[in-house]
Amino acid sequence: MLVHSIPTNAGYDFASDVRAGLTRPDQKELPSKYLYDDVGSALFEVISHLPEYGLTRADERLLRRHAKEIVERVPGPVAVAELGSGSGKKTRWLLEAFCRRQRTSYYPVEISHAALVMCERELSDIDAISIVGFEREYLDGLLEVAAYRKPGQHLCVLFLGSTIGNFDRAAGVDFLAEVRSILQPDDSLLLGTDLEKSGSQLLQAYDDELGVTAAFNLNLLARVNRELAADFALDHFEHTARINSEARSVEMHLVSKRHQVVSIPMAEVVVEFQEGETIWTESSHKYSSDEIFDTARKAGFRCEVQWIDEQWPFAENLLIAE
Ligand code: TRP
Repeated sequence: MLVHSIPTNAGYDFASDVRAGLTRPDQKELPSKYLYDDVGSALFEVISHLPEYGLTRADERLLRRHAKEIVERVPGPVAVAELGSGSGKKTRWLLEAFCRRQRTSYYPVEISHAALVMCERELSDIDAISIVGFEREYLDGLLEVAAYRKPGQHLCVLFLGSTIGNFDRAAGVDFLAEVRSILQPDDSLLLGTDLEKSGSQLLQAYDDELGVTAAFNLNLLARVNRELAADFALDHFEHTARINSEARSVEMHLVSKRHQVVSIPMAEVVVEFQEGETIWTESSHKYSSDEIFDTARKAGFRCEVQWIDEQWPFAENLLIAE
């Protein structure tokens, strides 16, 4: 067992992204990647245990149940790269199955330092594993992983938890095509996708009774206060989830409860909010099981197998690079 971490070379700038997002003329927005600082990652971990949010548990059930079959379909020796590993808990089943067959390198790519540390600790007891964590954005991290690749080694990319749904459908295809361009033919991509379900089920999943999702979303404003010395009054904003039936997505917003002016000194900006005006923080697009085959094809993959959970509509899709 070897655990090694390659620290951040932050290729992003929080202050300028906040300024750009909050000075947009129409819909104000903040990029969803900033939800995942140490506090946000811990809150998301709690969301994944909420009864209303069945997504993570469905993902984990499928991985546990089909780990052996997935591994049999990925030729060894293999390097496994995971985009957004989080705590790494649900990846255990797959990695154990890979490592039972032969020694396996695991490269979690994660922007949250705390999540990366947790993930390395969670999985380091697996026999015949070596873990090298990259504190990076997805594609930067994947490029580095690809540079580590040894001759004859297959690359298996994990993109779980339906993070693909946080892109617009077209941007999702573009992102997968970028992943494809870093891979070689016959490499694989295991893609988790949350499937369409009723509006009421989605609203409960993204606005739970306990208010954990609300805290997760509001933490973004708290983070702007902490890191950019802003004066957001958190109780003057409220979390809301909205169904966008045309886009087949749930949208997360922070609604300004009154007219107010917020200053963000370190982003050199003062922002005015009207009552009822919102900051859009994330959208979660839901897929039909059929369209994933098409999405895969457009991005240069073929979807070889799809496994669907019986309790919560969610699909695990094994894509092979063409
Ligand atoms: N990527 C997750 C999802 O789309 C993240 C998430 C869950 C989320 N609940 C949220 C993001 C609430 C913003 C607000 O399911």
